Amino acid sequence: MNVADSELVESILVDQGYKSSNDLNTADVIFINTCSIREHAEDKVHSQLGRYELIKKNRPNTIIGVLGCMAQSLKQDILERRSCVDIILGPDSYRRLPDLLNRGKNQPKSLVDTKLSRFEVYDDLFPSRKDGINAWISIMRGCDKFCTFCIVPFTRGRERSRNPLSIIEEAKKAVDQGFKEITLLGQNVNSYLHEDYYFHNLLEAVAKIPGINRIRYTSPHPQDITVELLSTMAEYDNICNYVHLPLQAGSNKILNRMNRTYTKSKFLSLVDLIREILPDVGISTDIIVGFPGETDEDFSQTIDVMNRVKFDSAFNFKYSPRRGTKASEYDDQILERTKQERLQEVIALQKRHTLERNIKLVGTTQTVLVEKESKMSSNHWAGRTDSNKWVIFSKGNVKIKEMTSVYIKKAKGITLHGELIQDLEEAA
Ligand code: 5AD
Ligand code: SF4
Repeated sequence: MNVADSELVESILVDQGYKSSNDLNTADVIFINTCSIREHAEDKVHSQLGRYELIKKNRPNTIIGVLGCMAQSLKQDILERRSCVDIILGPDSYRRLPDLLNRGKNQPKSLVDTKLSRFEVYDDLFPSRKDGINAWISIMRGCDKFCTFCIVPFTRGRERSRNPLSIIEEAKKAVDQGFKEITLLGQNVNSYLHEDYYFHNLLEAVAKIPGINRIRYTSPHPQDITVELLSTMAEYDNICNYVHLPLQAGSNKILNRMNRTYTKSKFLSLVDLIREILPDVGISTDIIVGFPGETDEDFSQTIDVMNRVKFDSAFNFKYSPRRGTKASEYDDQILERTKQERLQEVIALQKRHTLERNIKLVGTTQTVLVEKESKMSSNHWAGRTDSNKWVIFSKGNVKIKEMTSVYIKKAKGITLHGELIQDLEEAA
């Protein structure tokens, strides 16, 4: 989401005559687009701001701005601790950038605008995208779910959805610019609703745009996964056979305290339904360990769900208390050591499941979108299957951005290794 927002900010700046620069030491303006989701994300911003302080010392006219979620949640802290910061803008205030930049130099220090809007979706602004494979398209902003651990509803405000016509126009533009994959984005992407136009309607409309090889979306909430959505995914080949399904925890007590709106058994039934409608689907998840009050028994329920579902991959996190959220006030916080132990256990288990799931693909032929050179060697490409698994294969005569068929020979770690069908046919 921050990549997409940064592209939006870049397009606003380009309209003002600015050009993007790769050199912090000579830039006139430096903006950092921030995330507050966990303490670790905020720590990274603080260390970055430390660097900018030195730059400002050498070039006092450099304008430094903090944008996004931390601007929203930590403006007081930033104003007090970081004298180098000139501009603080929350995620709904980017339209004010030209105004602030043009007044910047004569104004008293630190211009702040962190008002949240009920309406801002930046509908008429098209992001500035570099040439690439995947175009991120933001379709809705904000979140009304209020999971008790999560700061997003406070930093990004209420849910609002963009007009489908402007989304489709943006998707067509991306295709014309040569993008092969579209990822529809939202904090709660599948609760998209514009008048009586639902997420599955939008997904179908995007799938019908000629020239889009692949469509992905993130991040959904299990509560809003509908049969209509899954059927639409099954119907269109260019909608990837992949669902991100954040579990967070397996125990009903913890799920309830998290305000996740589903139980363990509802989640498991949803997985069954997804696999029934979308055979061979890739399913990933998010897991939080050490939520307040999580006993060993509660944690074992998370492990149990993992063992039953065998997710293809998982993003695993230690619970990180966020100021202002309900869960940060619970008085049964978990010891750091326990969180760390549980995290290790979840990571190790997921590693086994990922390998187990990937081994099932050995001996099959997968359609892969060629995305980049493999880090492993300059003779190999890396690309993803539509179920979102990375495959490494020798380059042959295919090029980046092409769709190609790869025979899967081996699963190792979290990646697959294969060979181009073309090459195999030539050898035969
Ligand atoms: N602590 C740890 N993980 C969190 N997430 C959101 N808030 C927190 C928090 N306070 C995780 C959730 C969510 C993902 C984007 O980040 O798992 O799905
Ligand atoms: Fe945060 Fe996602 Fe829950 Fe919204 S649905 S509060 S963004 S975890």
